[in-house]
Amino acid sequence: MMSQTWIILGATSTIARSFARLASERGDGVLLAGRDTVDMKATATDCAVRGAPLAEVIAFDARDSRSFAAILKRVDSIEGTLSVAVFVGSMPSQDEIDADPSLILGTVTDNFTGPAEFLTTIAPVLEARGSGVIAGIGSVAGDRGRIGNYVYGAAKAGFHTYLSGLRNRMGRKGVHVMTVKPGTVDTAMTWGMGKLPFLAQPEKVAADILRGADRQKDTLYSPLIWWPVMTVIRLIPERVFKKLKI
Ligand SMILES: NC(=O)c1ccc[n+]([C@@H]2O[C@H](COP(=O)([O-])OP(=O)(O)OC[C@H]3O[C@@H](n4cnc5c(N)ncnc54)[C@H](OP(=O)(O)O)[C@@H]3O)[C@@H](O)[C@H]2O)c1
Repeated sequence: MMSQTWIILGATSTIARSFARLASERGDGVLLAGRDTVDMKATATDCAVRGAPLAEVIAFDARDSRSFAAILKRVDSIEGTLSVAVFVGSMPSQDEIDADPSLILGTVTDNFTGPAEFLTTIAPVLEARGSGVIAGIGSVAGDRGRIGNYVYGAAKAGFHTYLSGLRNRMGRKGVHVMTVKPGTVDTAMTWGMGKLPFLAQPEKVAADILRGADRQKDTLYSPLIWWPVMTVIRLIPERVFKKLKI
């Protein structure tokens, strides 16, 4: 089988770290991209020990497209299948955003436009290779705008729609695009938020993402319970939904 290397964007994310370890254990390479190189170097060492044939760190900031060029240059000399997993995201609370609306721009950039700009930049490289997977991490929050986090949700919804279009474009060139919609996950993003429904462990979500990528899923709810939950939530008529606080 041809070797696979994952470009992991937002590699300091709790879910990304689990994903990188799992991918390494089965012999995939990992190019860890993110803002905190010290943290990523520790993950790279761990990945190499676990069996990754390539485990490197590269600086990436979704808010600065000038950081993209170095990644494109590096992957040029990597042989085999190239895949991308996007874990970048940020979630200021809705209260923080209401108090400071200027936070909206950064939220939309981290969750949607930054990753979309990177993926649009690298898309021709993957198309030319004619293989690989792009796994974009969205959120169940993007399925319906609700009182508790509708700016974050709107950014994720934008990313979902972008990924749907990218899937439509790249599938015919042999590159599969998967939209991942995790529910609540026990990570840095949710620490301190109290008791959350169906809270999943990052290792479980990471394993789902790797399996979903292998099976070329289009949309993946993780854990799966969120698929029926969100189907019901989406079906609630707006005149009822607008009065709920869920
Ligand atoms: N936890 C949940 O309940 C949950 C639910 C649904 C979806 N998700 C999504 O899952 C993904 C992973 O999140 P997580 O739960 O693992 O939380 P996390 O540990 O807070 O990860 C978020 C990651 O995004 C990175 N990031 C943020 N802005 C960035 C930027 N401008 N440039 C580069 N990297 C940036 C962070 O890097 P730094 O370390 O440099 O800050 C961090 O690595 C996110 O897209 C999140 O929205 C999470």
